[in-house]
Amino acid sequence: MGASPHRHHFSSQPLPLLAKRIFTCALYALLPLALLHYLFFSPLLVPPPLAVNSSPSPLHGAEEQQRGVKTSVARKAAPAARCDYSVGEWVRSAAGPRYNGTSCGATIKDGQNCMAHGRPDTGYLYWRWRPRACALPPFAPAEFLELVRGRHVAFVGDSLARNQCESLVCLLTSEFPAELVRGSGDGDEERKFRRWLFRSHNATVSVFWSPFLVNGTEKSSSTAGGGLDHNRLYFDQTDERWAAELHGIDVVVLSIGHWFLHPAMYYERGEVIGCHHCPEPNRTETGFFGVFRLAVKNALRDIITRAARSSPTARSEKLAVVTTFSPAHFEGDWDSRDACPRAEPYAPGEKEVSYMDREMWRAEAEEVAAAAADARVRGSHVAVEALQVTELAALRADAHPGPYMIAFPFAGGEKARVPNDCVHWCLPGPIDTWNEILLQLVKRWRDAASTTR
Ligand SMILES: *[C@@H]1O[C@H](CO)[C@@H](O)[C@H](O)[C@H]1NC(C)=O
Ligand SMILES: *[C@@H]1O[C@H](CO)[C@@H](O)[C@H](O)[C@H]1NC(C)=O
Ligand SMILES: *[C@@H]1O[C@H](CO)[C@@H](O)[C@H](O)[C@H]1NC(C)=O
Ligand SMILES: *[C@@H]1O[C@H](CO)[C@@H](O)[C@H](O)[C@H]1NC(C)=O
Repeated sequence: MGASPHRHHFSSQPLPLLAKRIFTCALYALLPLALLHYLFFSPLLVPPPLAVNSSPSPLHGAEEQQRGVKTSVARKAAPAARCDYSVGEWVRSAAGPRYNGTSCGATIKDGQNCMAHGRPDTGYLYWRWRPRACALPPFAPAEFLELVRGRHVAFVGDSLARNQCESLVCLLTSEFPAELVRGSGDGDEERKFRRWLFRSHNATVSVFWSPFLVNGTEKSSSTAGGGLDHNRLYFDQTDERWAAELHGIDVVVLSIGHWFLHPAMYYERGEVIGCHHCPEPNRTETGFFGVFRLAVKNALRDIITRAARSSPTARSEKLAVVTTFSPAHFEGDWDSRDACPRAEPYAPGEKEVSYMDREMWRAEAEEVAAAAADARVRGSHVAVEALQVTELAALRADAHPGPYMIAFPFAGGEKARVPNDCVHWCLPGPIDTWNEILLQLVKRWRDAASTTR
């Protein structure tokens, strides 16, 4: 289960794969681990990832494949036109966000509430994503809730899954009240499993912490108490914390990636299948692209298999969405004042999606296409879609919390060194756009379901 590139139109590879892999490993070996440690384990900030989209090329194959799948599924009625939302540009917009750090303050994780933490500039709030091929309507809370009336939308993954979930809840609660029905405590552990009920539509939105999707043991923030200094992932075991609840979930949004950069051992059926920054002696570095792909593949397979198994009377139509990898934007030292200092998005073509970000995106796009075809063959009534944010996120180096991961970081005067979060997104912020695209994917799924009955 390697990361072998079988996509033929993925042509922009200046280096042979092996050289690139070695380069990537070396690059990540050199990245200050202290930074990752801080970002992912600081009690202030809990965790995970970010996703970015790369150049259109890696995606096109998957899009075409998927389009083929979709066409055959919904052949009876004219299916909603498919748009590739991943290609486009950020354009200025006078219309600001639907919510702010005060109106949705209880939902937003502190470290991502940039307004409440004193971020002084607001220019990053006044941009809209304009896809090249079609219009992307602004988020419409009533429309979204109508589409998922009586249904459950669950985000599963790491801190970027949570970031996107909190964005969706803030967008929806700008018009409809929600009750927090699970995870009402303040602790980081509580916030890993939260659930909101929109009584107006009997709709549920939830988040499940599962940074690998498969079962695993996370490295601990401190090894002083004998905790692990690396992750252990078990690829033959799905993480039941989310998978056991699949029967009650209608839309599942998977979002993982950044935890795969940490040192780790990988296991399958009791055997070691690889490692990254190998913590055990005499093990050969395998990198993480292959196992990242495997995690996504296994999760999608599980969703499809369990849906196919459920009784035909149960509501078994599901939508599985994979939010593609969201890139980080450290442009200087992680603790320098200017770690991610941009005030505006990159213009189209100004910034290439990095090799790593593109590979992560590609693995996800390809696994989504394969799973969509598999679901159709098995008649499982699961639609599988990629929410391709890698490229549009890659352009938004201006919209991370940066030093405002901490409240008023410069209150005591200028400091030479402050920690920065250039991984997660300020809320409100560009991650709201991901949910605008999600709305379109949900709409297409509902349309297809009603036309094939
Ligand atoms: C935030 O939104 C609320 C409700 O719309 C509004 O009353 C308040 O003035 C806003 N705060 C800021 C700082 O814009
Ligand atoms: C609300 O939705 C759930 C499914 O998510 C369903 O079991 C329940 O009967 C619904 N309740 C009402 C009052 O419609
Ligand atoms: C997950 O892994 C842990 C640690 O090996 C194990 O104790 C647990 O039983 C596993 N859970 C599942 C669902 O396989
Ligand atoms: C690792 O390999 C070296 C050289 O082959 C050997 O001397 C050493 O005992 C090995 N260590 C372990 C823990 O297997």
